[in-house]
Amino acid sequence: MPKIEKSIAGAPFPTPVALVTTIDKKDNANIITLAWVGVACSEPFMISASIRPGRHSHALLEDTKELVLNLPTAKILKETDYCGTVSGRDTDKFSSSGLTQEKAKFVSPPLIKECPVSLEARVEQQLSLGTHDLFVCKVVASHVEAAFLNEKGKFDFSKIDPFIYLATDYWDLDKKIGSYAFTKKSGLA
Ligand SMILES: Cc1cc2nc3c(=O)[nH]c(=O)nc-3n(C[C@H](O)[C@H](O)[C@H](O)COP(=O)(O)O)c2cc1C
Repeated sequence: MPKIEKSIAGAPFPTPVALVTTIDKKDNANIITLAWVGVACSEPFMISASIRPGRHSHALLEDTKELVLNLPTAKILKETDYCGTVSGRDTDKFSSSGLTQEKAKFVSPPLIKECPVSLEARVEQQLSLGTHDLFVCKVVASHVEAAFLNEKGKFDFSKIDPFIYLATDYWDLDKKIGSYAFTKKSGLA
């Protein structure tokens, strides 16, 4: 079928969904739901997060330069969506969502207990791109729930229930369909 030219900014890329925590100078922690996030570099481990300048989290991040990127599972899908629909400017999202704070090791914003992966990070660069500012952050500590690892210490996604964001929908990940470089063994045929 021929392709047609169509404006599709953002929509066709499946992305993770992250719950990013920030904190103000009076120790009030906030949570923002972000889909424009990802890994930016392996070594040093860097992550990226694109946030609109109008968000409360943007102001907190500019101020403190610290965040924790937490990966939710389907178990807290409702809480995840909720944190992306109200602002920390007028709502305490921890108490209203029921999500639990856990103290981080190096940064001030808290980890979210209900998320199996939490990355403590500090802002290294901020780029104004247009609608969003891109924050490039260096990970200073990674926390992984032990139940999420197999006996070899590797991630086992079958033990949790991850989900992704696609267009404007949340999708769960039904089954594994291949592994990195599997074609080196199987070839293309
Ligand atoms: C699934 C989902 C993904 C989102 N992704 C982003 C994003 O990548 N960047 C952004 O600035 N806002 C994003 N938002 C919107 C913010 O989460 C939302 O405006 C939030 O209420 C801002 O909270 P704050 O004012 O407390 O920072 C997303 C919302 C949802 C529900």
